Amino acid sequence: MLVNVLVIGSGGREHALGWKLSQSPKVNKVYYAPGNGGTENNVPIAADKIEELASFVSKNDCFTVVGPEAPLAMGIVDEFSKKGLQIFGPTKAAAQLESSKIWAKNFMKKHGIPTAPFGVFDEPKKAIEYAKSSKHNLVVKADGLAAGKGVIVCNSHEEVVSAVETMLVKKTFGNAGDKIILEERIDGIEASYIALSDGNIAIPMATSQDHKRIYDGDEGPNTGGMGAYSPTPVINEKLTEKIQKNIIEKTISGMKKEGIVFCGFLYAGIMIKDGEPYVLEFNARMGDPECQPITMRMDFDLYDYLFACSNGTLSSLPKPSWKKKSAICVVMASKGYPEAYPKGDEITGLDLTQKDTVVFHAGTKKEGNKILTNGGRVLGVTALGDTLSGAISNAYSAAEKIHWKNKYYRKDIGKKGLASL
Ligand code: AMP
Ligand code: GLY
Repeated sequence: MLVNVLVIGSGGREHALGWKLSQSPKVNKVYYAPGNGGTENNVPIAADKIEELASFVSKNDCFTVVGPEAPLAMGIVDEFSKKGLQIFGPTKAAAQLESSKIWAKNFMKKHGIPTAPFGVFDEPKKAIEYAKSSKHNLVVKADGLAAGKGVIVCNSHEEVVSAVETMLVKKTFGNAGDKIILEERIDGIEASYIALSDGNIAIPMATSQDHKRIYDGDEGPNTGGMGAYSPTPVINEKLTEKIQKNIIEKTISGMKKEGIVFCGFLYAGIMIKDGEPYVLEFNARMGDPECQPITMRMDFDLYDYLFACSNGTLSSLPKPSWKKKSAICVVMASKGYPEAYPKGDEITGLDLTQKDTVVFHAGTKKEGNKILTNGGRVLGVTALGDTLSGAISNAYSAAEKIHWKNKYYRKDIGKKGLASL
């Protein structure tokens, strides 16, 4: 019997997950809640309306796949499971790896997972005293979810003081900044390592590298991610083994020891220094935009794997195989992002028919037969190539054909990978 799938979320990651899931011979229809201008079968229910989502799923008999962190942190998986609805993603307790940075740091310390030394504070005076006595450059982090903005990487003591005040005194991040972490800054090469786990075993997804800053050359403020490519040469086989053994497996077994089953995508943001990997952060979901190039390279039925995770039977499936090609996603954004940006510009050039190229939508909406911009990160132009440089030229030649008044994109996505080859 064919199954229906509901993908929760509205970003490029969700479009890519749904695109891949819809290729499964076992899947009938993929719905998106709420979806975007590029997804079909959109259901007008926001990603945090758990009761309404559950009622849609019951009526339409869906297997649910959760994209973003917010509903996971709210406990959507716990609520669906109580109702007997089959869902892929971590429970509220498991999602604490992402929803509380303090919980995650204490967990890593307890289970011997490599990460930067840190202190936890809720009083500005104590935080500043700690900073004064530290010989290292520091990073200041809000404990809770802050839409990717709650981390300030500091270059001086003055910057630390100002970051502490921003969070603990000015309350710029609201409750998410009631408690903060000060941790040692690690200067190295950053990459994303994503595994898929059913709570018992964890299998690696293809490696990838994000480009978090808004401008070329990794300049300017942090964003949700301006582009990603897969695989990345900065994570070689030896490093993969280390990350898998010292980070991923320790995390899954540590969670088990805490009485928590981690079912879902486990995303470790890694800093590599002197050949050693350190965890900067965990996410309890797929990365966005990492998901887009990773799904393009999947040579297996994603539905089988997500369904097996939700059942705890991942070990019954073969090792997933990957297309021996490179993939890159260039994020096209609205000028102004990650600060304020205009919405409502008409997008043209979306009817391209370039081989092995998919334009995943994020901040778009459909009005009549027009597609309008509706967010900061608007599109993820994703292409395969026989080599990384081939994939880069394919993605950019497609991006050049897409237009709207206030478009902006980085011109150097993937270059870091070429430099490491
Ligand atoms: P996070 O949300 O924790 O990944 O932090 C956002 C960004 O801040 C990361 O992608 C890194 O570029 C940077 N970052 C976080 N922690 C550290 C650290 N300990 N050392 C250096 N950079 C960091
Ligand atoms: N691209 C980084 C993230 O998804 O958190």
